[in-house]
Amino acid sequence: VVPRVGIRHLPVGKCPSGSIASPEPTTAPRNVTAAVAKMLHKKGILVTELPAWKALKEHVHDIESTHLRDLLHDEARCMGLIKESEGIYCDFTRQRVTQRTLEHLYELAEQTNLRGKINAMFSGEHINSTEDRAVLHVATRAHRNQKIIVDGRDVVPDVWEVLDKIQAFSDKVRNGEWLGVTGKPLKSVVAIGIGGSFLGPLFVHTALRTEPNAMRASRDRTLRFLANVDPIDVARALDGLDPEETLVVVISKTFTTAETMLNARTVRSWLIERLGQDAVAKHMVAVSTNLKLVKEFGIDPENAFGFWDWVGGRYSVCSAVGILPLALQYGFDIMQEFLAGANNMDEHFKNQPYQDNLPVLIGLLSIWNVSFLGYGAKAILPYCQALSKLAPHIQQVDMESNGKGVDMNGVRLPFETGEIDFGEPGTNGQHSFYQLIHQGRVIPCEFIGIVRSQQSVYLKGEVVSNHDELMCNFFAQADALAYGKTPEQLRSDNVPDYLIPHRVFTGNRPSMSIMLPSCTAYTVGQLLAMYEHRIAVQGFIWNINSFDQWGVELGKVLASKVRTVMNSARTRDRKVLPQDGFNYSTTRMINKYLEGKTQ
Ligand code: F6P
Repeated sequence: VVPRVGIRHLPVGKCPSGSIASPEPTTAPRNVTAAVAKMLHKKGILVTELPAWKALKEHVHDIESTHLRDLLHDEARCMGLIKESEGIYCDFTRQRVTQRTLEHLYELAEQTNLRGKINAMFSGEHINSTEDRAVLHVATRAHRNQKIIVDGRDVVPDVWEVLDKIQAFSDKVRNGEWLGVTGKPLKSVVAIGIGGSFLGPLFVHTALRTEPNAMRASRDRTLRFLANVDPIDVARALDGLDPEETLVVVISKTFTTAETMLNARTVRSWLIERLGQDAVAKHMVAVSTNLKLVKEFGIDPENAFGFWDWVGGRYSVCSAVGILPLALQYGFDIMQEFLAGANNMDEHFKNQPYQDNLPVLIGLLSIWNVSFLGYGAKAILPYCQALSKLAPHIQQVDMESNGKGVDMNGVRLPFETGEIDFGEPGTNGQHSFYQLIHQGRVIPCEFIGIVRSQQSVYLKGEVVSNHDELMCNFFAQADALAYGKTPEQLRSDNVPDYLIPHRVFTGNRPSMSIMLPSCTAYTVGQLLAMYEHRIAVQGFIWNINSFDQWGVELGKVLASKVRTVMNSARTRDRKVLPQDGFNYSTTRMINKYLEGKTQ
């Protein structure tokens, strides 16, 4: 029997005062069954009202009385927390969980209809409800023979039409069939874009630069990125490049992003001043969903590579956004391996049961850490220099996706979503912020190690190779965080009493260790997709829209207001006036800036 509860599906409405009101959260009756809870969730009940959420809240007390030092001695527990799938080894034994915790988390997944939401994503439902769009970055890495239907249409042939065009174009540029306006081959590429149109491609480029096959394929070629509107970034991106040999790829989903468009205009004049007006046709191409604006900018739509509104910017690295610049640098074959790796993880995510599903497990453990243990940040720590741009990329994907304040129904959430992501490759990070992680705040860590390094250095006379040395630290850090060091141990090490409090490590600090067999285009694709999907899992459980980004709008609007006022201030003595509508602080700050300008 379905209990009658006052579930409210309120559209966001106007208060009498004129301000916008969030719908009120609804409360659930006590003791509902799991199936009823799932139904209630589908109807819009807050996740905090679900029995599984409440059970996890209670369960925190059980975990608070444990220490990882002891949990790690329980071999049966450890065996259940090590998962190996698709060649990826994941050790979750250093999470503050027991089998019971996992069971509660699976129950939460069930009650929040996680499987149904995953299926809705893969089947092209408009799960990005505030923008009325499907969320189908998985289609950008589908095999040619897969079928993915969006609004009644199979989009895989469209995806492959663009991929085929990228292959043909990148081959021509790389083999010298496509030449610059003065007849020289185009050996350098400058990719202009920001946010999702930059961080993903930068991550993959950085990951592949020293991979032997990719290195061979990119000999004599250069790929640079221009993201920031800061003229310093322009100078650095163009420094030393010969315009006669340079191809510029303007990457913008909307083709309206102020920074990207200004940088594109700047680089276009750099080309025209040196090579003449005809240079644009041979030296500039674009990636966008807005082919009309590409044309208006002066780039022939023939030289544009499209994608679709169902690919979110931060999830677009597998579309032309990433594949075009990276295929120009490394060749299309290597990018196909990358796409195949991402596709492998998509299939795993879609098909594996929760218990064996790596993105689901990682996502659920993050929910536990954030919403139940109260750890609001996580550190992404690859022990692999090639993965040095993973943290900045995931920082954007995660924080733009899951940093939300209301649920899918517009109800203000009574808890904070999202995580603060940061990270650096090991061992560099150890000499930077690990002090805080070991003795200051508790920050769950995600260690990522590689079994076979892209490069090897083994000096004669050394005990271990450079890579072994790196991995010794990878193994040691996780245990140091988990076990810590007690006063008793310090005393038996003859540490003087006055130093003991300073040298105690409380331990019990959670981490997970992920090992990839190698760092190749394929495994980088797997890793990328694994992180994308764990972020989706978290959003699905919190019942937020992980695929919109209204939070970045306000700053853009205000910057545009400042731009307008600054322009008119230049014509009247370089002064912003009180009637321009800024507060005292902003007016004074802009005037201080304008006073100090020499041009
Ligand atoms: O920063 C907000 C954002 O909209 C990102 O989501 C997006 O990746 C980025 O700006 C760039 O947008 P575009 O590709 O349209 O230039």
